[in-house]
Amino acid sequence: MGLAGVHLIVVSVWVGLVLAEVLLEVFAHRGLLVPAVATLHYWIDALFEIPLLLGILVTGVILTARLPDLDGLHAVKVASGLVAIGATAFAVRVVRERREEISLPDRVAHHQRQLVLAAVVAVPAGLVAGVIGLTYAF
Ligand code: HEM
Repeated sequence: MGLAGVHLIVVSVWVGLVLAEVLLEVFAHRGLLVPAVATLHYWIDALFEIPLLLGILVTGVILTARLPDLDGLHAVKVASGLVAIGATAFAVRVVRERREEISLPDRVAHHQRQLVLAAVVAVPAGLVAGVIGLTYAF
């Protein structure tokens, strides 16, 4: 299997993890299980999501460096991938801050609004990167 296949596998595992995180956050957004979600999401990020994000970034950068020519569609692909990774890295920071400030309801509400914002940026950008990537794969 080539590096593009590794990139695809890491991206796919990450998408599954993000779907589980969205489910957790829906509970927290409704005011249910907030301290449990804050702790679980923090540990999911630390143990799984940060290594997966680094894996996507490293494989993506090497694939980009190997391209013979960065045409317009590849540039959109790389830019949207970087935006998705950046917004997710921002969400990782917010999740850490929410856990540290879990006893302050106003701060927790603020962080949860920031998580919605991160998702609104990351999901469309990730979809664009994924759809363009798949057009190259198949
Ligand atoms: C959420 C973020 C991302 C998603 C969903 C995503 C998705 C994909 C997918 C599905 C492929 C096709 C893999 C295959 O051929 O089997 C791909 C290829 C590729 N990705 Fe990503 N990717 C992301 C981030 C990145 C980043 C950050 C970079 C660069 C820094 C990048 C650069 C590339 C390149 C250069 C290719 C190969 C294109 C080609 O075959 O011509 N990707 N990506």
